[in-house]
Amino acid sequence: MQADGSIAAVSGDYSVSLGQFSAAAIARAGHLAAGLPLTSLAGKSTLARQLHALVRRLAQHGLLDYRLFSPRDAQDLVVIEPQIAGYWPQRAKLSSADTIVLSRYAYLRRRGNEMVLESPRAGALFRICDPAIAATLAALSQPQMISKLRKQTASLNLDLLGLLLDSEMLIKRDTKDGDGLRLENGDSNLALWDFHDLVFHARSTEGRHANPVGGTYAHAGAIPPLPAVRPPWRGKKISLGKFATPEPASPFAKLLRARHSTRDFDDQHPVTLAELARFLDATARVLSEWKSGADVDGGPEVTYSSRPYPGAGSAYELELYLTVSKCEGLAPGLYHYDAGGHALVAIDASANQLQALSMAAEFAMGASGPPQILITIAARFGRISWKYSSIAYSLILKNVGCLIQTFYLAATDMGLGGCAIGTGNIDLFAKMTGLEFYVEGPVGQFALGRGRKAAIPS
Ligand SMILES: Cc1cc2nc3c(=O)[nH]c(=O)nc-3n(C[C@H](O)[C@H](O)[C@H](O)COP(=O)(O)O)c2cc1C
Repeated sequence: MQADGSIAAVSGDYSVSLGQFSAAAIARAGHLAAGLPLTSLAGKSTLARQLHALVRRLAQHGLLDYRLFSPRDAQDLVVIEPQIAGYWPQRAKLSSADTIVLSRYAYLRRRGNEMVLESPRAGALFRICDPAIAATLAALSQPQMISKLRKQTASLNLDLLGLLLDSEMLIKRDTKDGDGLRLENGDSNLALWDFHDLVFHARSTEGRHANPVGGTYAHAGAIPPLPAVRPPWRGKKISLGKFATPEPASPFAKLLRARHSTRDFDDQHPVTLAELARFLDATARVLSEWKSGADVDGGPEVTYSSRPYPGAGSAYELELYLTVSKCEGLAPGLYHYDAGGHALVAIDASANQLQALSMAAEFAMGASGPPQILITIAARFGRISWKYSSIAYSLILKNVGCLIQTFYLAATDMGLGGCAIGTGNIDLFAKMTGLEFYVEGPVGQFALGRGRKAAIPS
């Protein structure tokens, strides 16, 4: 609460201004620390309207938890912790004739001294405070009709089930679905995902969880860092030094030595469209296409392509989306690289979203400005998971590594600069493109531009 009548949310060095409020609203907002009933926000009074605006703003920044409280037992049943910006608890409608079942992506686990229910599909995590709820969740591993569940469970909480359904922790089962539980409401894109792969994707990127991301040094106080170079084994040593040449032995060896990360770019002389075309041609263009039968009885014919970098199973699931901030001859904006047609296709995206993506890259690199071109490497997940079980997502990340090194070497060869980026916001990308996060989404990023200094030292 600021003296001038405004409210700010402050965490460490970071603060968000939430606007001006009346003295009555500020006094009532103080109750948010312990809990404010949703009824305080209902109604048309100025106080209710101000509180509603404040609470919505806090929710937009993911700064609220939602307690489902049992007055009878005087205890929390569940506390909902939002995982995506703007989550707002809603109860999906349920009738006695509905049949519900747990999503196959929902999982209960211990976090500290708590039991939490999570799912990579859900916009929120549910902290389960009452063991009876965990028992109901266990029963929901099998489809249950609400009317029957009511009879079997003394204190069945329909509000909670409605909240869980809205978060896609639970799914409504259609009688037409048969036993195809893997179909998760008939979405074949989700059927292709193994459980561990979707959890890994949603939790190892930004946008769909509220955990710390990146270099937080979480264990620095407790565990010493491992050395840069592994101490050698104690066995017989065969020195390779005598084979070394004073200079790199070939142009390729020279290129490998010259490769380095460039994070700051020369915006007086941005990369040109002709250079970008050459770069994409050298690294990512489709070189040829062919067809072949899938290696399984009665399998369909599958189309394949070959490209300049290696790719598991020749699947080539990786797609390039370019956020252009500065490129001579190309308007700023978002583009998809059509690798088959060797062309850029403009995609409508809001200026705010483009700026958010570039700024996150700038922040990840500790750079002094946005990259001239930010390449977001997205995966068409189903292209790989249609064939590979258990290893699909890991193959995708390995393919990203191959492509990133190819980018580094091509940029170095052309006298340009680049830098891999280890973070990426999958929710922002989904909003920008309208693609569901589990259909096609970011798995890597690379900043490209003309470095401030010559990329290859003379
Ligand atoms: C997978 C991957 C992720 C990376 N992520 C980042 C990043 O987020 N920010 C950054 O500044 N550099 C990032 N880098 C660049 C590394 O910091 C850099 O490669 C390393 O320090 C070695 O320096 P060099 O590339 O100049 O040889 C990343 C590199 C790789 C391969």
